[in-house]
Order: sequence, then C-alpha cells, then structure tokens
Amino acid sequence: MTATQLSQAALDIQAIYQSPEAVQNPYPLYERARQHGEVVTVPEWNAVAVFGHEEVSAVLRSPAALSGQFVGQDDTGSPLPSETLKLLEPMMLFHNGPSHARLRGLVNAAFTPRVVAEQELLVRELTRELLAAAGPGRFDLIEGLATPLPVSVISRMLGLSGTDDGKFRRWTHSVAELLGGVNASPELSEQIESDAREMRDYFRDLASELRAAPQPGLLSALAAVSMPDEEGQDAQLSSDELLANAVLLLVAGHETTSNLIGRGVLALSEQAGAWAELCAAPELPASLATNLADELLRFTSPVQLTGRVLGAPTDIGAQTFAAGTHTMLLLAAANRDPRTFAAPDQLDWQRPNAARHLAFASGPHYCLGASLARLEARVVFGELARYPQLCVLEQAHEYRPNITLRGLTRLEVELGERG
Ligand code: HEM
Repeated sequence: MTATQLSQAALDIQAIYQSPEAVQNPYPLYERARQHGEVVTVPEWNAVAVFGHEEVSAVLRSPAALSGQFVGQDDTGSPLPSETLKLLEPMMLFHNGPSHARLRGLVNAAFTPRVVAEQELLVRELTRELLAAAGPGRFDLIEGLATPLPVSVISRMLGLSGTDDGKFRRWTHSVAELLGGVNASPELSEQIESDAREMRDYFRDLASELRAAPQPGLLSALAAVSMPDEEGQDAQLSSDELLANAVLLLVAGHETTSNLIGRGVLALSEQAGAWAELCAAPELPASLATNLADELLRFTSPVQLTGRVLGAPTDIGAQTFAAGTHTMLLLAAANRDPRTFAAPDQLDWQRPNAARHLAFASGPHYCLGASLARLEARVVFGELARYPQLCVLEQAHEYRPNITLRGLTRLEVELGERG
C-alpha cells in the first residue's frame, strides 16, 4: 500500500516511528495520533496502536500478548545471520510462558535485592569520581557521567574487569544497536555477526570454569544458580543462556539508564525553578529521592515504546482484536495520560502517584533491573543536587536517531562548585 492510500490515523502513527523530528520531541506527535483514540486500529498493518495508560498496562499484563515474535528477523523481515540469532534467542526478553519464567527465575536468583542494595556505595563513589574529574567548568554530561556510570556499575557487578572489560563494551555496543531497533546496515550486521561469534567462543567454556572455580561477581552467581525444572531435576543456565542473559543485563541497563540521567538533567533545567528547588533539599529522604527517580522515569520514558503480538483474541479498551494482531505500545504516551496523571506535562517530583508510570513496562517482562536503575537515579540526582549552579549551556541538544531508546548524544553543562 502506498503512503497516499494510508488512513490519517496510520499516517499519524507512522510519523511517530519514522519522522526525523520525532526523536527531538515526540510528544506533540503522540498527542496528534491520540486524537484518533486511546486505542487506534490500523487495519492496513494488521495492527493497533495503544496510547492510554490503563490500556497499555492491560496489554503488557495479558498472557496472550507475546514478546519476541520477530527475534529471528531484521527490519526488512529477512532472517538474521546465525551467530546473532544464537545470541539473541536465549535472552529472556524474547521468551514467553514457562520458558520465560525459567530463565527469569534463574537470573533473579542471582540478581537479588541484596546484591542490588550492595551497589549503593559503588554507585556513589563512581558518581563522585566522575563529577570530580569533570571539574567546575564546561563538560559533556553524557560523555562524562551518563554513559560511563551505568556501564561501569553493571560490568563491575558482573565481575567483568581488567582486560575483558573493553572487549565486552565493544561487543555489547553492537547488540545494543540491534535491540534498540536501529536499522541494521549490512556493515553493522556483519559487525554484530562477528562480535557474536567472538562472544560465544569466549563463553564456550566459561560457564563450566566458573562452576568449578567461582570468581567474585554476578557472572559466577549466574553460573551457579539452579532451580528444579518441571520434572523436579536441577536445571541450570546452559552456556549459551548464560552468555545471552549476561549480555542482556549489560545492554538493557546501559543506554536506558544513560538516557534517564541525560534527559532527567535537561528536564529539570528546562522547568523554571525545578533545579533550585531540588538543590534546596539535597539530603532528600530516601522515599522522596525514589519518588524523584520515578517522576523522572515517567517524564522522560527512556524506553518510549515497545510491542507485542497477540497469541489469542484479546480485548483492548472496548474492542476485541484477533490473534496475530501487532500491538504498538506507546509507553511514553501512557506516562503522560491525563486520566492517570494530573497535569502530565509538568515535572513534579512530589507527585503522589509517580510510581504508577510504565517506564519499566509491566507484567511478566517488567524490567528486571528496575531496582538497580532506581538506585542509580536516586544516587546520581542526589549527588548532582549538590551543584546548585549547574546550568545547561546549549539550546540545541543532540539526540540519538532512535525513537525506542530516546536519548541525548551530547549535553553541555557547567557544573559550578560543589555546595
Ligand atoms: C532507566 C533505566 C531502565 C529502563 C527505563 C528500563 C526499561 C525496561 C523496559 C521497558 C523493559 C521491558 C521491555 C519490553 O517488555 O518490551 C525492560 C526489561 C528488562 N530490563 Fe530494563 N530498564 C532500565 C534499566 C535496566 C537495568 C539497570 C537492567 C539490569 C542491569 C535492566 C534489565 C532488564 C532486563 C533483563 C529486562 C528483560 C526482562 C524480561 O524479559 O523478563 N534494565 N527494561
């Protein structure tokens, strides 16, 4: 079907996914598309776009909504090369039902609340080091803080350090681009394929080595976890599952958290009086600091959208959709739904229901790293609030060409002196 034959609703939705201005500011585009309803059917694509908070949340929690239906294909529908596929397939994000529960259960057994809580000191020290290195003058907050902090935290948690650290960063960068939905050029596909091969070679014997001689860190804990399977036998992560889900942890928490830090600083600086108000209360009680993190997540939605395919007929809003329908779930639009959030375009870190946001999705795939992301945001913004003179220097900010993982590539700020 040509563009001229598309309905106005389809054109308005297409603009969200394809127009270059969407990454700069997608919110007017969400509002325009929302004029067609909170649930917009697009028969041309056998799809439905969902904008409302209640409706998006219901789809995410529905057992009929399946994740990962396109994991074997690139953006043109062609099959992915084999090494890349072998790397992606065992990631929990692309599983449903019992196989998802098994993978998630095994990873959760190592990624415990205690392990996360123990990272607070590390996050604070790293943040302080990075801010001290930046000095009081002009610096790029993305390069100097938002990017290195989450990578260092998760690499150290996994126990990947020393010589392998750099190698892992290179490997995971290409996987991040693939998961983030950047159109995979032939060069990028080749790069990902060769990185995936190197990763699997590296990991081939690692799982059994780590089981025989555990090292400090989450990777050894992941190799050691076991759970009874359906037959009551002890089940562990296979070598490929260990690799895929370790890479998922590295990638999933990396760009998302960077985007939250960058866009969060920008949002606080754009709203008159918000930075001064925050700096006037730098020792926020933990509950308010967490509320600030949640409000920044709601307001910035580092993962703007996701999707599911219906595995069975499903009610969304007042309509029933057939099995096979593609659902486009606009998390960022749901986070600004005026039926759920009063004055949704206002950043209000004391908002009583900020935690109802869908920035971490909902249902079985609810972000496994949510507690770590909240901890990082709470600590980083607490530390930044010690710089009352912080100001953003440029009006034109640069965004990544990626609407799914919306984030800045550069944000020039002047920190000023630590108060
Ligand atoms: C601001 C930071 C973060 C945001 C906004 C975020 C958002 C999300 C979202 C929306 C999903 C669901 C995707 C979908 O269902 O399509 C997800 C899943 C996931 N996230 Fe996060 N995430 C963040 C940080 C992290 C961190 C720090 C980690 C781990 C270190 C992490 C690990 C994961 C994993 C493993 C999944 C897959 C869960 C599953 O399939 O069961 N995320 N995240």
